[in-house]
Amino acid sequence: MSVPVYIALLHTHVTNRNGAQVTTAVTNMDIHDIARSARTYNAKGYFLVTPILDQHELVERILGHWKTEKSKAYHPDRVEAVSLVRMVKTFDEVKAAILAEQGELPEVVLTDARPIPNSMSYGDYRRELSEAKDRKKPVLLVFGTGWGISDSFYPEVHRILAPVYGPGGKEGYNHLSVRSAVAIILDRLFGI
Ligand SMILES: C[S@@+](CC[C@H](N)C(=O)[O-])C[C@H]1O[C@@H](n2cnc3c(N)ncnc32)[C@H](O)[C@@H]1O
Repeated sequence: MSVPVYIALLHTHVTNRNGAQVTTAVTNMDIHDIARSARTYNAKGYFLVTPILDQHELVERILGHWKTEKSKAYHPDRVEAVSLVRMVKTFDEVKAAILAEQGELPEVVLTDARPIPNSMSYGDYRRELSEAKDRKKPVLLVFGTGWGISDSFYPEVHRILAPVYGPGGKEGYNHLSVRSAVAIILDRLFGI
């Protein structure tokens, strides 16, 4: 993959079952499983976005475990994946970090299980990214927690990916865990 790719998991600007905007808690599985997908598909970084400082402390404690010599010796693969994780308080911090690393702000790509107007297919975006050999603009794939990303986040968005559907198509069940959604979407865009 020549285009620099990043992943953000939002715990803010997401909704609850009633459609109200809420802040969600970070889950342990999301840290590890998404980090492993990120590493497999050569993502440059995986941002966990939450304004809650207690959550930062908790996650840093978990990440600290993976920095010990024992973990490095026993689980080198997991340590390598988890090293991609970065805790930030706001989405602005995500953009600033990518700008500092890549010299360009990212193209922000929204994912959602629901259809949103003006979305693009995986095939089209995959083709666009693979054909743009000199492209420098990083891609930032954004995923939600709770009941998905709130429309209050939409002003940040440049591109929207169509929902992933199973064999049931648009009428079928497609409420994936965020961990599965990340893996499927990375594979559709960058898998071989
Ligand atoms: C709504 S949250 C659900 C979080 C939940 N706590 C879980 O089980 O992981 C799941 C996120 O994964 C992505 N997602 C889930 N299903 C999807 C689909 N069918 N197509 C595209 N993205 C999907 C979206 O980013 C969505 O915001």
